[in-house]
Amino acid sequence: MATQALLKQLYETPEKDLLHRIRQLKTKLSDQVLILGHHYQREEVFAFADVTGDSLKLSQEAARTDAPYVIFCGVHFMAETADILTGDDQAVILPDPDAGCSMADMADDEQIQRCWRELTEVLDPDAFVTPVTYINSTASLKAFCGEHGGIVCTSSNASKVLAWSWKQREKILFFPDQHLGENTAFAMGLEHDDMAIWDPHQPLGGLSADEIRRARILLWKGFCSVHQLFKVEHVHAMRRKHPDIRILAHPECSREVCQEADFVGSTEAIIRFVRHAEPGSKFAIATELNLVNRLRLQYPEKPIWFLSPTICMCSTMFRTDPQHLCAALESIAANSNEHHQVTVPEPQKSWAKVALERMLALN
Ligand code: 13P
Ligand code: SF4
Repeated sequence: MATQALLKQLYETPEKDLLHRIRQLKTKLSDQVLILGHHYQREEVFAFADVTGDSLKLSQEAARTDAPYVIFCGVHFMAETADILTGDDQAVILPDPDAGCSMADMADDEQIQRCWRELTEVLDPDAFVTPVTYINSTASLKAFCGEHGGIVCTSSNASKVLAWSWKQREKILFFPDQHLGENTAFAMGLEHDDMAIWDPHQPLGGLSADEIRRARILLWKGFCSVHQLFKVEHVHAMRRKHPDIRILAHPECSREVCQEADFVGSTEAIIRFVRHAEPGSKFAIATELNLVNRLRLQYPEKPIWFLSPTICMCSTMFRTDPQHLCAALESIAANSNEHHQVTVPEPQKSWAKVALERMLALN
């Protein structure tokens, strides 16, 4: 059955039957399919993941598995990464092809090429600048990094990656997330004057030649719209209400929020922090709602608040629902090739792999 018709039928199926069907298909395909689930996935999907994790853990898992099919319950850049790291005989499936990442869309190949070209007006970037892309980026940007002596980072290894990058060349061009780059550089002891923000919509990033020469890191002006909703006023309000609260923030949050937080880390690191805390510890967490709600249920003895008074949810992560997961499994079971396979073309794939493998070698 064609995907759209199948999805229509699955949306009309009672939830209990739908979940039962997914369980049946998982059992039937257990030696063929590995389901990877990011921590921001909704509960009904997350429950079916064979492995759950942050971007680093899930990419390591993709590099390790020999399952013929990997279903990635996450967003597009994660599935692309998995395709780059798996063999040619393995298929990576993104259940809903529209599950993208708005931050990853904030830097494209054309803009990065232009930036590199414009930098030559000031210095030779291939001699002086290591390009570093956050894993939340398209495969073409990873390939650019591979080809230009650069590397990929995730939120859990950014400081290791920056340290490596400064060993290669004196400056870093960090894209597409200004905040991860900025928060990591500050945590590593850099000062405000060591950084400059590159605005891709301005000639020469809106910077003077002197500002570029002075900077040790050029930060692409991109952001995660979900994490920008957390404000420093929310931190202050929480601390006024609960003086003993600990604030945990994802490094995609603004500098102001991270500076005031007690702990800054990836989704996996935030989970670990809560897990190891004493019962009775109180937390306010600045990251996506599905993860915070899950932690709240898992650790009722550790009161947990969502840092923002408004809901901050990643709408693209939310696109993957049990119906799309079931449709992907049905297609594999029927050998019908109706699933949404993510395939990174060559030579992009090989160059992106170079940049990813440089990162994986550091962990
Ligand atoms: P993690 O790698 O920390 O899970 O972050 C992924 C992400 O997209 C956060 O917005
Ligand atoms: Fe992208 Fe932000 Fe969603 Fe993470 S939370 S996938 S960075 S839009």
